[in-house]
Amino acid sequence: MSSSSDTPTGREVPPSPAQLDDLKQEILRLTRDYARHAHRAFRPGWDPQRSAFDPERGTIPYAGRVFTEDEVEAAVGSTLDFWLTLGSEGAAFEQELAMFLGVRHSLVVNSGSSANLIAISALTSAKLPVERRIQPGDEVITVAAGFPTTVAPIVQVGAVPVFIDADPITGNACCDQLEAAYSPGKTKAVMMAHALGNPFDLAATLAFCRRYNLWLVEDNCDALGCTYSMPRQLAESLGLRENSPGLDEGPDRVVRWTGTWGDISTQSFYPPHHLTMGEGGAVNIIRDQKLKVIAESFRDWGRDCWCPSGVDNTCNKRFDWQLGELPEGYDHKYTYSHLGYNLKPLDPQAAIGRVQLKRLPEFIEARKRNWETLRRGLTAHEDVLEFALPTHATGWDPEAGFSWDSSGCRTECSWFGFKLAVSASAPFSRTDLARELDRHQIGNRMLFGGNLLRQPAFVQLRQERPEALRVVGEMTGSDAIMNSTLFLGTYPGLTQAMLERELQVIGNFAQSKALQKAI
Ligand SMILES: Cc1ncc(COP(=O)(O)O)c(C=O)c1O
Repeated sequence: MSSSSDTPTGREVPPSPAQLDDLKQEILRLTRDYARHAHRAFRPGWDPQRSAFDPERGTIPYAGRVFTEDEVEAAVGSTLDFWLTLGSEGAAFEQELAMFLGVRHSLVVNSGSSANLIAISALTSAKLPVERRIQPGDEVITVAAGFPTTVAPIVQVGAVPVFIDADPITGNACCDQLEAAYSPGKTKAVMMAHALGNPFDLAATLAFCRRYNLWLVEDNCDALGCTYSMPRQLAESLGLRENSPGLDEGPDRVVRWTGTWGDISTQSFYPPHHLTMGEGGAVNIIRDQKLKVIAESFRDWGRDCWCPSGVDNTCNKRFDWQLGELPEGYDHKYTYSHLGYNLKPLDPQAAIGRVQLKRLPEFIEARKRNWETLRRGLTAHEDVLEFALPTHATGWDPEAGFSWDSSGCRTECSWFGFKLAVSASAPFSRTDLARELDRHQIGNRMLFGGNLLRQPAFVQLRQERPEALRVVGEMTGSDAIMNSTLFLGTYPGLTQAMLERELQVIGNFAQSKALQKAI
């Protein structure tokens, strides 16, 4: 298409809107063509167009972006529109994520860490009742094993994290320690992650939060698409009666996605997570509209006004407010009710996220399938490897699957990773296994920061300001996680050949070590 032509005066004749649209469509067609060929290695593991894996030389990532030409087209399309800052794609993504989860609002942000910072900051707002507001020196109960930015924001807002231990089998908080962590008049919230896609004990945690009127912030960064269910009677006693959209376990049970049980939850869209937009995250406001306005204010510079970018006067009284010590009629757009941040992503990121969101149901299933393949394939090594169990499960059997405790609560994990621990009696250590996996280019990770209290930043904090944190009991479970655990990938980009290669390498290693020990 010729987009313009020169006139005798030398001025370019602008193309018509129809011609411009043709030009854009042509660019997008070429983009799709390019992406289809250039990015074959990033297609879903089951996609026949995905480039083949070479078991001799191929790398097996533990996680990464999984996408097709659809995401690339969305990114380029939005970039050509060049709105750039959060706009129509962001608004649509927020609505679509909130609808998927069945929460009141989702606010898109630039990372999971930012989401956690906003979530906890929101609970410090002076717009909340004074008895519920987190003030400097108030306490927030959290867990010692996990990712640092679940905890760092608690310190950053001037509150005191109170650490309980983690269970090495589930990777989750030992919720029987919640009571011991409670401090009357000081404890205001519980903030913990569903570790590696394993929901924590929501029944116990919610009962505790209801008993003491505490906020619950679910760090759902690793757990989008995991479900938790409980007997209806128990759910109703905790004030929850609705299933999440599309979920149903019959009239006697309530089943919901993780990230929809507490007050606020957070997501990360960094590439290893259940969906990606490169960098990105979300704050889910589960029920309370007031928390949405506050969280949005912290995301958007701390402003009082809630107009989307590029829009003025949503409140219809832009020049009719008098807040703080500002003169009456001072522009609401430049009125700040919080000490906020600017933690918004770009609109093209949200455009990518919208395409990823459509893939989420099959990504969730792929993670479950991949976990199951690894679990079955490693059954023969139960003498040296200890495998994760979903919260409330008491065992796993290749025929019968999981067995469950008597709580009536159930979890279904869309695993972030395949967690295993090397037994104390094994003739090799966790680090030996990690080295062997590395030697074969098999992606593996430790459970993030291990026991966070042993990380340099927290050691320094404890030394310089002992009152800045509190620890309840011994952190033996978190230490065990730190010392003997690693995880492999379960992400949807893994192919059957990759999973088989992983099983072969681990099997050979365990066998050769057993033989060496026997000689
Ligand atoms: C549990 C948990 N919370 C928060 C984050 C931070 O997310 P982001 O990397 O998007 O900042 C991560 C990162 O992996 C995480 O695992």
